[in-house]
Amino acid sequence: MSKLDEQIKLLEWKDLGDERGNLVVVEGNRDIPFAIRRIFYIYGSDDTVVRGQHANRNSEFVMINVCGTSKVRVDNGSESRIIELNRPRMGLYLKNNVWKDMYDFSPDSILLVLASEHYDESEYIRDYGEYLKYLKEFKE
Ligand code: TYD
Repeated sequence: MSKLDEQIKLLEWKDLGDERGNLVVVEGNRDIPFAIRRIFYIYGSDDTVVRGQHANRNSEFVMINVCGTSKVRVDNGSESRIIELNRPRMGLYLKNNVWKDMYDFSPDSILLVLASEHYDESEYIRDYGEYLKYLKEFKE
């Protein structure tokens, strides 16, 4: 198992829907590995923009395209992978210290993000060179 496989997880939740429509439930510490302190969502982005481009020292995330599709490129300094978020029952869990780029948003994309921490700009690393340096220090 690669290190990245321990840092990211693809999650799939049940559909509790019936003839009235679909219902997906995500409970903190039950359906995802952390208690939810914050949610935010990204929409109105398209296939020309790249968002994210950062790593977080403390926050863990679960990303869900509740509508439409997008791609997430994850990177831990030595391995990278591209995940397509393309259904509302699918979530991508990211541990802290994983670099992420979100891109290729469909016009109807609504990317919902659940986070383990309140917003704190000081835990963001927004420069990839700095991220690699931080990982090196972190290991020592
Ligand atoms: P940014 O981190 O660039 O968003 P993304 O990860 O989607 O690329 O955030 C854009 C702006 O919004 C930036 O000024 C920080 C602010 N922001 C908050 O105030 N709180 C939040 O929870 C988030 C995610 C961003």
